[in-house]
Amino acid sequence: MKYRLLSSNYKTIMIKLQTLILVGLSLTATHSQAQYNKLHIPDTMSGKTFNLVLKDTFTQFKTGQTTITAGVNSNFWGPTLIFNQGDTVHMNILNKLNDSTTVHWHGFHLPAVMDGGPHQVIPPNTVWRPYWKVQNDAATYWYHPHLHEMTQEQMTKGLGGLIIVRDAVESALALPRTYGIDDIPVVLTSRRYTASNQFVTRNSAYGDYIFTNGTTNAEFTIPKQVVRLRILDAEMERSYNLGFSDNRTFYIISSGGGLFDKPIAVTRLPIHVGERYEILVDCSNDAVGTTFDLNAFNSGQSQSFPGGEPGTGGEFGSLLNNKTFTTLHFTVGSATAKPITTIPTALRTNTYLTAADATVSRTINITNGNPGSGIPFDLDNKPFNLTTINHIVTTGTTEKWTVKNNNVFGHCFHIHDVQFKLVSRSTGAIGAYESGWKDNFFISKNESVSFVARFVDYADETHPFMYHCHFANHEDGGMMGQFVVTGTNGLNKALNQPFLFSVYPNPAKNNLKIALGQNIVAYYVTINNIVGKTVMMLPQPEIDQPIDISNLASGTYFLQVMDKNTQSVSTQKFIKE
Ligand code: C2O
Ligand code: CU
Repeated sequence: MKYRLLSSNYKTIMIKLQTLILVGLSLTATHSQAQYNKLHIPDTMSGKTFNLVLKDTFTQFKTGQTTITAGVNSNFWGPTLIFNQGDTVHMNILNKLNDSTTVHWHGFHLPAVMDGGPHQVIPPNTVWRPYWKVQNDAATYWYHPHLHEMTQEQMTKGLGGLIIVRDAVESALALPRTYGIDDIPVVLTSRRYTASNQFVTRNSAYGDYIFTNGTTNAEFTIPKQVVRLRILDAEMERSYNLGFSDNRTFYIISSGGGLFDKPIAVTRLPIHVGERYEILVDCSNDAVGTTFDLNAFNSGQSQSFPGGEPGTGGEFGSLLNNKTFTTLHFTVGSATAKPITTIPTALRTNTYLTAADATVSRTINITNGNPGSGIPFDLDNKPFNLTTINHIVTTGTTEKWTVKNNNVFGHCFHIHDVQFKLVSRSTGAIGAYESGWKDNFFISKNESVSFVARFVDYADETHPFMYHCHFANHEDGGMMGQFVVTGTNGLNKALNQPFLFSVYPNPAKNNLKIALGQNIVAYYVTINNIVGKTVMMLPQPEIDQPIDISNLASGTYFLQVMDKNTQSVSTQKFIKE
């Protein structure tokens, strides 16, 4: 049923896209400080099937020439996806970009083949259909492109979006959760323009203008009550030392992978690239009309703090560096009908991993790239290689990873597949704000940081997960490695053995089914057209479900199945009517 809806949905999305481009024009921002623009709130999508179209777009961000951008169902950035824990979510990703890309589900525990890392390349005009059971706890996650050497460019153009996971524990709490009203997405990033109004996508770590949800000089009318902000640092490199202009106390309720035991009261919160935090801001005692700002108190930060560098131009400078600047201007408005007016005292009971739980230890060294290689940084003196598996992890193991930074720079370490617990920092204590479940952390120069993670399941000897610096320019430059999670017997590839299967009906119109032999497990199904162009990719398809081929043009196609156990590939021809 849900598959049949696909092609008509694409048409609706295309019409919506045109409308959104017009809406984009009305979001036009001037960069004068006096004028505020209404904070853009990305649309939401919920349910179990998500149709996402990635597209090259133009956006009028500045007067004069329009800027070449990209978006997901939109002209810049994408919709906020809302998942319920326990649901199996199905993604229909249509790549209408002129380039290949990937879509990575940052922070999610899911099979590596669905992960959207650099291996799951989606060619132009191809549909990619990953699906997985949502096991993550309620928190804020995100999706973004992860094509090797293209991540900075594709993210800079605007590809990405937030994901909100809801679960029973979070839903039972008296927390603000009316999206766009008292539960506000705040995606922080910045951009730099060329003389012809194009985004600078290379050799530049920092933007000059703040984009909050894609809005410059953003303002929001905040209701007179407790409000939740879901903050993401979607920068290439910059960190934000967040706080409010009136220095009010606010309450951190969630880090990357879930709620804290109880809210943490602070006046400042450092957030680094790729990280998310949910905070509560209490406006219930503010007079209507009160104004205040969410600021980045980045002035006076050390050179090791990304964005603390003093220069205003060049690769590591920016107009925003080492300054305190506003990311979002608030005006207090009247309360909503059923406002939350108190900060909860307890959130959930977490059982965190400790260093003593780990039975395997690994060390990752942040190293300088070889002189003359053009690669500034790498890990363990090895620039990223798509065909090198750097680490093999056995399912069911709890491991302690220590990252050592002997480098002149701070970096942001991120690992796929797991949420971890930080257990030590050589420079001192772990901040309360980073004491929850995380998938990312900042490591300053000459520091060594350890975390503990449990690699529960999803053994897959073929598809690796990534670990890398989340600075897009460092990641593109090779500061990345990969690991596979194997079954308890380790790597054990059987020989390539051809196998038989059939597709039916043949010819087929809308739906196609695959019949496999007894011992064959479909690991990957790819449909190529007559000239060999891949048009559809189905990681580990649910073989009892028909494949929706209604959006394919009539003609001859080749369907290829890879068997999970032997990695053998067999092909069958079919005709689409
Ligand atoms: Cu947010 Cu490997 O990425
Ligand atoms: Cu880095």
